[in-house]
Order: sequence, then C-alpha cells, then structure tokens
Amino acid sequence: MQRTLITSALPYINGIKHMGNLVGSQLPSDVYARFCRATGHEVMFICATDEHGTPAELAAAKAGRPVAEYCAEMHKVQARLASGFRLSFDHFGRTSSDENHTLTQHFAGRLADAGLIREVLEEQVYSNADGRFLPDRYIEGTCPNCSYDSARGDQCENCTKQLDPTDLINPRSVISGSGDLEVRETKHLFLRQSAMRRQLDEWIDNQIGWPVLTTSIAKKWLHDGEGLQDRGITRDLDWGVPVRRGDADWPGMENKVFYVWFDAPIGYIAATAEWAAVKGLGEDAWQRWWRTDKGAEDVRYVQFMGKDNVPFHTLSFPSTLMGSGEPWKLVDFIKSFNYLTYDGGQFSTSMGRGVFQDQALGLLPSDYWRWWLLTHVPETSDSEFTWENFQATVNKDLADVLGNFVSRVTKFCRSRFGKEVPSGGTYGATEETVIAELTTRVATYQKHMEAIEIRKAANELRAIWVAGNEYLHSAAPWAVFKKDAATAAATIRFAMNLIPFYATLSEPFIPDASKTMITAMKCGGYVWPKDVAAALGRLAGGEGFEVPEHLFTKISDDDREAMKAKCTGQEA
Ligand code: 2FM
Ligand code: ZN
Repeated sequence: MQRTLITSALPYINGIKHMGNLVGSQLPSDVYARFCRATGHEVMFICATDEHGTPAELAAAKAGRPVAEYCAEMHKVQARLASGFRLSFDHFGRTSSDENHTLTQHFAGRLADAGLIREVLEEQVYSNADGRFLPDRYIEGTCPNCSYDSARGDQCENCTKQLDPTDLINPRSVISGSGDLEVRETKHLFLRQSAMRRQLDEWIDNQIGWPVLTTSIAKKWLHDGEGLQDRGITRDLDWGVPVRRGDADWPGMENKVFYVWFDAPIGYIAATAEWAAVKGLGEDAWQRWWRTDKGAEDVRYVQFMGKDNVPFHTLSFPSTLMGSGEPWKLVDFIKSFNYLTYDGGQFSTSMGRGVFQDQALGLLPSDYWRWWLLTHVPETSDSEFTWENFQATVNKDLADVLGNFVSRVTKFCRSRFGKEVPSGGTYGATEETVIAELTTRVATYQKHMEAIEIRKAANELRAIWVAGNEYLHSAAPWAVFKKDAATAAATIRFAMNLIPFYATLSEPFIPDASKTMITAMKCGGYVWPKDVAAALGRLAGGEGFEVPEHLFTKISDDDREAMKAKCTGQEA
C-alpha cells in the first residue's frame, strides 16, 4: 500500500486567518489527503498552530493575556475553524507541545555535535525598565526617513523603509514605553547553513518534477549574492523552546529561546508524535512516518505552503534534518502557492480587509467556499477574489450544474418510478458513449490529482458533472416516459448511478454535499471508480433512495451585496 505523509504549513497562532491563508496551504492539502485516502493510500495528514515568536507575544499582549493562555485559546479557535472547513487532519497539533520542545532541543544538540552551530556575539538593544533584550519589533520610535512617530525597529510601516533599531529617533520599548534603552552584547547561535550548501544543492538537483516556483526560489537563495548565509536560530524572548543542547544546559544561553522558524517545521514531526500519544501508541507509530530506519523509506512526503515559506522548507528545515546525521525523512514534493488578492487589493489581517474564516462560515456552508477557492487556487499566478465571481461560480457550477442534476434526477425518479431505482430496460449506445467519455475524463481527473494540479482537476470534475447534465438533456426521460417506459427507466437508472459516482469523485472538493449525495443513494458508501462502466452499473434497480433537500442554494444579488457589506472594513 502506498503510504503518503502530507503536511500543511503551520498557521501562526496570532488571530483568525483569512481565506487567503486557507487557500494557500491547508485547503489544497486537504483535497490531496482526501484524494489519497479515497484511492487507497495510507495517509498521515498533519498540521498545527505555529505558536512561538514575537507576533504571538505581541498579540497576547494586545489581548491583555498571558501568552500561554492566549495560545491555548487561539489553538482551540483555529481547530474549530479547521473542522468547520472540513480539513481532515489526522492531527492538528501545537508547536508549543512537549514533543516539540524535546525534538527541537534534540536537533539543536545533534547539530552542535556535528559542528554545525557556531556561537556569535551580537549587539542588541536592552531595556533597563523591562529587564530584557528587545527584538527589533519591540522597539518603536520616529522614522528618520518620514518622521512617522510609530515606526518599528525593523521597518517603518508608513514609508516601508527597512530600519535598524538604532536608526530610530527617540526609541522606546513597545512593552513598557520606556526610553531607558542601551545597546548590550548578547550571545546567539547560528546554524552553519553555508557548510551545507553543496549537500542542499545536490539534493535539490535530484528532485524530479518539482514546480518551477519551488526550485527557482531555492536556487536563488543558494546562489544569489554571497550564496546561502548562516542563520541565527536563537532569540531573546520568554516564549518559545528554551535553548538547550539535547537535554543538557547550554552555557551562556540561559533565558533564550530558539527562533520560531527553527522550531516550527520540527513541529511537523512533533505533531505526528502528539498524534501517536493521543492515540496511546508508542514511538514506532510516528517514527514509521519520519525515520527511514523505522519504515519511512517507502513513505512519499508531500508539503504544502505559500511561496514565502519555500526557503525555509527547501533550505533551513532540510539543513536541520540532514545536519543531524540521523536518518530523517526528507520531503519528496513541495507544492507551493502564490497569493489570493481581495477585490483589487490585498487581504489584510491588521486592517480587517477580506473574508475571514469565521465570517465565511457564518455566511455560507463550507462547500461553497471550498469550491470557489479550489477552482481559483493561486497555483501558477496570484488570483483575485471578487464577490461577483464567487456568486457566479457557486450559482453556475454548484447550483445549476451539480445541484440541479441531482435534484431533477431524484425527483423525476420518485414521481415516475416510486421509492426504488427502476430496473427496467437496458443501457444502449448513448450510455456507452457517456461511459467512454467519462472513462477518459476520470483518468484525466485522476492524473491531475496525482500531480496535485488542483485547478486542472477541478475543471475536469466540472466537465464530468456537465457530461451528466448533457446526457440527461439529450436522453430526456420525461419525454420518452409516456411511449417507452422501459427506456426511460434505463435512462433514469443510469442517471441515478451518476449520483454516487459524482459523490465519490467530488468528495475531496465538496465533502459535505458528497456525503448528502452518497447517503441519499443508500448504496453503502464511496467506491473509487476504477472501472467507470462497473461504477455506473452499481445500482441495478430495486434500491431505495432519498430525494436530497436542496444541495446548494443560489446566491442572489441581494445576498451578495449583504455579504460584501458584512465583510467590509471590520477591525480584526
Ligand atoms: O508563514 C506562516 O504562516 C508560518 N507560520 C508557516 C510555518 S510552516 C512550518 F514550517 F511550520
Ligand atoms: Zn518612515
């Protein structure tokens, strides 16, 4: 049995995510996980909240809560939204877990033993009032470029100029507002990525069929300018994984934590370990996905992420894994995405611009969003969300094509043939033609899904639905019924067979509607159509069925405007 490990980039803990975050990783990874399960793979599908770093600390401070409490609560919120969108993670973990602490410290220890970590003395701003070093973002002051009075130590929000904290005029601590700051020396750890450049370069060259978006970003970082730089992997923060060398103290590194981008990807492994713990399983259960000496050599590992995450997954995380000298499973395929824009601009969490996940689920069922997002997933370029396009896509594809088909067929069957699928008549040339067309289309659909070409797969799925509508239109059982009831029976039986067939193929995209369809047909559940002719002969006649309530409701112009108004200019 093919074993497939799938991870989605871990969403930051700070705040509720918008639809751009959903479409840029979690949702397409869910489609792929569902497809793999449906076609018989053993799947481990992992996600988690990315809980460390400055943004988490700042968000908790803004909410007036201790950071651990804030993270615990936001994790629950994100988990609830993930299940609202039917994201079928085997486990949705947390990078603040004990498992991640242990593994992160373990990797740091191994890397240090291998000589891949160096200690560096740096100068950093220290706040006497707060009794701590301040990360760049924790320092505010007046921008030397535009005089904006709340410029941050890393960048001015007003004029976008990149800054050093020492550039700021009248710098002050974001935490206490105190201007009693000084520059002090502090020690940090750097991962010697430069020493691993050749190994990484060779590894990337050996990857076959990776998207150009993925490899070009990695190659740029490896070769542009001075080539791959060593990277600081520690920070002066309270919240995070304490710096330790395995289970030993690290002299001089007291009160420091690992940088969030060091521990976050290790979180993929840790969340799998969390899964095992929750299930009451031992170490072998998760290690068979992650250790090539424990069974993971026959696992195919696929990662999903936005393009801004690619450098960390093609270079930093592999450096951690390879540099450990242990047999960890490396990624086999990276699927990366561009951005979704909102009505001519960017989604913005801070400005509350766009559709946020909680709002979306309050407006319409998740399948509506899933279908629009997946048919417009930003695979080859950025794509834009507009309310008009959303309305048109939902109304046409879901209501007019799929919903209408299911409704017409089941209603007609009920009114003319009663409570059971009719058994009279036989399939003829028309049905053979449809079977031939669908055989080709299902093969194409499957090929796109295997290649994780989500938009192409969605287009093929839509064409599969359209073929059913066209068949019904040309076979017109309502016209044939009066003079040839047997032929009308065969037609409607064929059309009824298309419903579980559609339910099965559509399940990765619109799982709720698929469930309604498959349940209504009382046929014993999803069976992936290896042979289309056999699949369309599954209901032979005599089976009971329900007429499902409206699968999809059309979005009127008034609905659209009302939804748009609700999503405009809310504060996050
Ligand atoms: O860009 C982001 O949203 C990050 N939180 C992704 C982390 S992915 C992984 F490495 F954990
Ligand atoms: Zn400025």
